Amino acid sequence: MKWMKKAFSMMVLLVFAFALVACGEDAGKGNESGNNKNSSNGQENKKIKIALSVTDLSLERWQHDRDIFIDKAKELGADVIVQSADNDETKQLTQIQNMLSQGIDVLVIIPVNSDSLSPVVDQAKQEGVKVLAYDRLITNCDVDAYVSFDNVRVGELQAEYLVKKVPKGNYFLMGGSPTDNNAKLFREGQMNVLQTFIDKGDIKIVGDQWVKLWDANEAMKIMENALTANNNKIDAVVASNDSTAGGAIQALAAQGLAGKVAISGQDADLAAVQRIAEGTQTMTVYKPIHKIAATAAEIAVKLGKGEKIETDDTINNGKMDVPYVKLEPIMVDKDNLIDTVIKDGFHSYDDVYKNVPEDQRPPRP
Ligand code: GAL
Repeated sequence: MKWMKKAFSMMVLLVFAFALVACGEDAGKGNESGNNKNSSNGQENKKIKIALSVTDLSLERWQHDRDIFIDKAKELGADVIVQSADNDETKQLTQIQNMLSQGIDVLVIIPVNSDSLSPVVDQAKQEGVKVLAYDRLITNCDVDAYVSFDNVRVGELQAEYLVKKVPKGNYFLMGGSPTDNNAKLFREGQMNVLQTFIDKGDIKIVGDQWVKLWDANEAMKIMENALTANNNKIDAVVASNDSTAGGAIQALAAQGLAGKVAISGQDADLAAVQRIAEGTQTMTVYKPIHKIAATAAEIAVKLGKGEKIETDDTINNGKMDVPYVKLEPIMVDKDNLIDTVIKDGFHSYDDVYKNVPEDQRPPRP
C-alpha cells in the first residue's frame, strides 16, 4: 500500500512539474507575446528616423521646404537627417546610399533628376525603407507616396493669365529643367490653354527652350538669343518658374522691354513678388510651402509607422500608380499680393514693396 502512496505522490509531483513548465511556456509565450506587444509597442513608440535628400538649396523655396519639413517632423517626434545634392544627380545617388546605411525608416527625396533614382529607391525598398517623392515625381520604381501640388494646374494658371493679358501675339516658351518631371507637367498645363489660341492663329510660338537645372543665367542667355532671333518682337514669355523668369527679365531689361513683355513665373520667390510689385513680372504661382512641407512630414511619419496613406489621387510613374497627395496652387499678381503671400506670412509687406515708392504702395494691411 505504501508503494501506492509513493506512486500517487510521484504522479502529483509530475503533474505539478508539468503544470509549471506549461505555465512557464505560456509565460514565455506570454512574455514573448508580451515581448511582441513590447516590440509592437516598441514599433509604435519607436522614434522614426527620416532622411531628406534635397535637390539643391540655391533656390529660395527649397530652403523654406527644408526648414518647415524638419520643424514639423520633429514636432511629430521624428529625427531628420538632411543632405543637399547641389543640383548634382550623381552626388544625390551617393548621398542617398550613405543615408540608407544610417538605419533610416523613411527616405524623402526632392530629385535632381526624376528619372535617375530607381537604383537607390529599389535598394531602399529591399531594406524595408519607405520612399516619399517630394514635389517632384520619381519615375520607374516603387514609390510609397508623392506629395506635390497640381502641377498641370500650375501651367494652366500661368498660360490662362498670359492669354487674358495678351490674347494675340508672339509667345516664347521658356521651359523648366528637362530632367525635372514637374517641368513636363507645367508644359502640359500651359499647352492645355495655349493650343486653342495657336490653332486659331492668334498666338504664334516663336521659340521654345528648356532651362537646364532652372538656372537663371541660362534663362537670361536663352532670352537674349530669342530676342535677337525675333528682332525683339516677343509679346509674352511663358516662364515656368521665378528663377527663369528673373533671368529672362534681365535680358528684357537690357532691351528696354522689362514691364512691356508679359511674363509668368512660379514659387512666389521674394525677388519675383518684388518684380510683380514693381511691374516687371506679370504673375507668379504661389504654392504654400508650409502646406507641402508639413503634409510631407506628416505622411513620412505615417509611412515610418507602417500606417496606410489615404490619398484620393494617384499618378503613374512609368512603373506604378503612385498615391498622389495633390495640393492646390494659387495665382498671384499685383492685385492680390496682400491677400496671398503677405497675409500668409510668406513675405512681409515691407519686403514685397521695398522698391516701390511709398506713395505708390497699396494700404498696409
Ligand atoms: C520644380 C518646382 C518648382 C520650382 C522648380 C525650381 O520642380 O515644382 O516649384 O521650384 O522646381 O526648383
